Amino acid sequence: MKEDRRLPHYLHFLSKFSKTKTAYVFFILLTYAFGYLSAYYHRQPPQQPESTSAVRTVKCPIDSFRVTTRCGDLVPPELIRRTVIDRIFNGTSPYTDFPPPHAAKYLRPKRIKGWGSYGAVFENLIRRVKPRTIVEIGSFLGASAIHMANLTRRLGLEDTQILCVDDFRGWPGFRDRFKDVALVNGDVLLMYQFMQNVVSSDFSGSILPVPFSTGSALEKLCEWGVTADLVEIDAGHDFNSAWADINRAVRILRPGGVLFGHDYFTAADNRGVRRAVNLFAEINRLKVKTDGQHWVIDSVNVN
Ligand SMILES: *[C@@H]1O[C@H](CO)[C@@H](O)[C@H](O)[C@H]1NC(C)=O
Ligand SMILES: *[C@@H]1O[C@H](CO)[C@@H](O)[C@H](O)[C@H]1NC(C)=O
Repeated sequence: MKEDRRLPHYLHFLSKFSKTKTAYVFFILLTYAFGYLSAYYHRQPPQQPESTSAVRTVKCPIDSFRVTTRCGDLVPPELIRRTVIDRIFNGTSPYTDFPPPHAAKYLRPKRIKGWGSYGAVFENLIRRVKPRTIVEIGSFLGASAIHMANLTRRLGLEDTQILCVDDFRGWPGFRDRFKDVALVNGDVLLMYQFMQNVVSSDFSGSILPVPFSTGSALEKLCEWGVTADLVEIDAGHDFNSAWADINRAVRILRPGGVLFGHDYFTAADNRGVRRAVNLFAEINRLKVKTDGQHWVIDSVNVN
């Protein structure tokens, strides 16, 4: 009976206390402590001794932007062409005895088509940067690479090499718009037509194809120590492709080099390129400039 009488009093105190600021702070501290303790409890290592590495993984937050490949020792610019020919083409220039007889009949002397390949940005950057090495990511039939080779020659940069990274497959369904590009047993011969265009333009001494996906090619160039003064990104325009290409490209850019790319304004894929470029610039505190349809990031120094 005694306790029954005390109970309402106790509740009365609680209800009064719960309306005070002190109670508010007290409850916040209580919930925080509860959350902390329960998280701590869940983080306790399981009983089996063999699972210690799993526990360590949980405790160290994974850096989402971490890359594992270390770029190799720098190859001097005058050895870059030789390095690529040795590593990719077994020591023989791909232009030797070109075109091969089985492909010759499918090729046109010059079958060039590009988009924004003659923009003023190319001359502006080549004049300013005077690159020894240019890497182009996404070359298709070589329009912009040939234009850049022409510019370097005209500007007296005779030694400049342009490496063209492309799988030379176009994209699924691209022949809807390029019906004249041959299809031989499922192969589109785009690399041969690219090379034919380079040979017809007389730039086989300064342009080399790097015929692999952008991801695998850029990883290998980094491993081999190949760096560029100027990297042009014009491959997949969706966010995922552009994001991967930019982040891989920056690893093969010499400190202070220039990154640029096409279609900053493309709306067709929800501005995937623009979002990737802007996010990259924001994370690395860099400034994006535009030149015609192109974006340009100067003095990149993030490696
Ligand atoms: C690569 O080059 C070596 C040395 O020149 C040669 O013996 C070999 O046959 C070549 N391999 C291929 C696949 O062409
Ligand atoms: C190189 O540039 C010159 C001058 O602009 C132009 O007349 C010529 O057609 C270009 N050559 C090639 C192969 O693009």
